[in-house]
Amino acid sequence: MDWNRCYKDKETPWDKGAPAPPLVHWDGGGEMRGEILVPGCGYGFDAAEIAGRNPGSRITGADISPLALEGATRRHSLPNLEFVLKDIFRPDPELDGRFDWVFEHTCFCAIDPDRRDDYVGAVARLLKLGGNLVAIFYLNPYGDGHQPGGGPPHGTDEGELDRRFSGKFELLESWVPDVAYPGREGLELMRFYRLMV
Ligand SMILES: C[S@@+](CC[C@H](N)C(=O)[O-])C[C@H]1O[C@@H](n2cnc3c(N)ncnc32)[C@H](O)[C@@H]1O
Repeated sequence: MDWNRCYKDKETPWDKGAPAPPLVHWDGGGEMRGEILVPGCGYGFDAAEIAGRNPGSRITGADISPLALEGATRRHSLPNLEFVLKDIFRPDPELDGRFDWVFEHTCFCAIDPDRRDDYVGAVARLLKLGGNLVAIFYLNPYGDGHQPGGGPPHGTDEGELDRRFSGKFELLESWVPDVAYPGREGLELMRFYRLMV
């Protein structure tokens, strides 16, 4: 999947020009402290939302696409927010083990299902021991214009999430958010995990 090309061709249907409503309305958002990573941050709206709410924390938005990062840097300027070019699958001594929190939104579901165990391993590697993962999983992205196998996001379900994350992460909470981007109502699952030591 050539993500940079999507940004170049302006084929970015996931970008809503605003942070994810379940993040904005999540009561626990203010609890995120320390070093926070947003992998697959795209244009950075979620990362900027977290940075604005947590001025004492340091937020890193990471993406594999230089054009996404260029757009993120143009859109957001906050003293505690930086954007870095990073393929989360590649080990990185600068970032591995650095983060207290990872916030993920439509990154897992954008990853080819064959690589999702690697994705779980990458998040575990990037977090400090005992660190937290908060995720908004887009369970069912399928509609008239997008059917299974038609490209990312690929969708997921509770069974897959349980299977892939168990053993490495302890599930602390799981809920269907009652707010969403228009059209995503009831199609997302929010989960709060802790990396097991
Ligand atoms: C569906 S988009 C979601 C973007 C953003 N989270 C949002 O909701 O607007 C998935 C993002 O993950 C990024 N991505 C895909 N594979 C990646 C990887 N291996 N490492 C880092 N970012 C990746 C893509 O470039 C893209 O920006």
